[in-house]
Amino acid sequence: MNATGTFPAGFLWGAATSSYQVEGAVDADGRAPSIWDTFTAGRGMDSGAVACDHYHRWPADADLMAGLNLNAYRFSLAWPRIVPQGTGAVNRAGLDHYDRMVDGLLERGITPVPTLYHWDLPQALQDRGGWTARTTTEAFAEYTEVCLDTLGDRVPVWLTVNEPWVVSVLGYRLGLHAPGERDLRTSLLVAHHLLLAHGVAMERIRERCPDARAGIPLSLFPNYPVSADPADVAAARGSEGYTNRWYLDPVLRGRYPADTWALFERLVGPLDFVQPGDLDLIGTRSDLLGVNYYTRRRIAAAEQDGLPWRVLPAQEGVPVTESGWEDVPAAFHDLLVGLHREYDVPLLITENGGVWNAGPDPDGRVRDHGRVRALHGHLRALSRAVDDGARVLGYLHWSLLDNLEWAEGYAQRFGLVHVDHATQRRTVKDSARYYAAVIAANRVLDPAGHLDGPAGSSADGSPGSAGDDGP
Ligand code: FCB
Repeated sequence: MNATGTFPAGFLWGAATSSYQVEGAVDADGRAPSIWDTFTAGRGMDSGAVACDHYHRWPADADLMAGLNLNAYRFSLAWPRIVPQGTGAVNRAGLDHYDRMVDGLLERGITPVPTLYHWDLPQALQDRGGWTARTTTEAFAEYTEVCLDTLGDRVPVWLTVNEPWVVSVLGYRLGLHAPGERDLRTSLLVAHHLLLAHGVAMERIRERCPDARAGIPLSLFPNYPVSADPADVAAARGSEGYTNRWYLDPVLRGRYPADTWALFERLVGPLDFVQPGDLDLIGTRSDLLGVNYYTRRRIAAAEQDGLPWRVLPAQEGVPVTESGWEDVPAAFHDLLVGLHREYDVPLLITENGGVWNAGPDPDGRVRDHGRVRALHGHLRALSRAVDDGARVLGYLHWSLLDNLEWAEGYAQRFGLVHVDHATQRRTVKDSARYYAAVIAANRVLDPAGHLDGPAGSSADGSPGSAGDDGP
């Protein structure tokens, strides 16, 4: 065990966002609607029409990142800005935006880490079947080529398709995310096409940007049986197949897990949309696995919503975030060590964080101390995983800014930086100042000094006492 809790040299320290959640400017410079514009409008939800206006404010936001010592920024490219109709004509103005942003990040010493697809599918493609249509993966390949040919000379790390499990389950099984469908078989069809999209993107990255490192960001949950009863243990294994292995195994081993395959075929019939050669493509060698970790799942043997396991609510006595998710750093450690042992792939933490809704106190400071404590706990868990052999390339906190939390709207704040959505005023939170100090030291610091003390935040984006605990 490495007692100092330091991180490897060259470690990427950053924060993450996605286009629809932060950009706003939905009509600017030739952008066409995405499925999230349609979905939020149709249900009268908060939309990304303005969001954090990051499309216009990115230079100031990048200054803020640099002031917080971030050396990496994960953002996503909006397909409806770049190829507004999904296929065909490229919108130069949309591409220019990201071209300038990549340059602007590099000028500030920040490594750009773009995600090719973070859920804002062009509505025009949805009108032709969206992810239920295999042709959408061909459209994605075309769009990917455009992105690579424009930005590939400066982008060292590419991420492909964000969280296919969430798209498949929330978008197509539970109807909670765009496009709001509810059918298990369709959700599996969509998951397969998203994995295929990842595969074609990896293939294009290999051809066009052989020096870049690339991989897929997956939402991963450690699944724990609620008891040692073999039925609970089997249920947890089943649930883990559903949330994790259904994505990990094809991407990293080129095959679907047999137990989960058998279960799905029992539930929905033959998975005949999986065609010869698909798994070779999906299994194109990855350089890294993106890990999005928020919470664990506790599982009991019982049927729930047609699946043979039940997800238990938060356990009494276990800390929760303000959205009710269990805040369990030890599960993060278990996940990382498990991934390392099973798949032996370099890991990039592409998301980790939680909801704490604190806003500015009368003195202007945002005391989001739940986030400070959780960040400390998760960074300790991360550093223990590194000590235990996990190869970790970096940590990208979700999120840089309070933003549109999809169907939850603006009510859930995940940011290191507070955004007043009426004025767009940014305020660096205590968590960001703590994080800046950790980055400066390249090791986990005691958060004590960040949980009290004088007002130090600022609305102008300066990181206040960020350097206090530095080396
Ligand atoms: C993940 C999404 C991300 C954000 C976080 C809280 O599932 O990738 O966009 O909404 O959850």
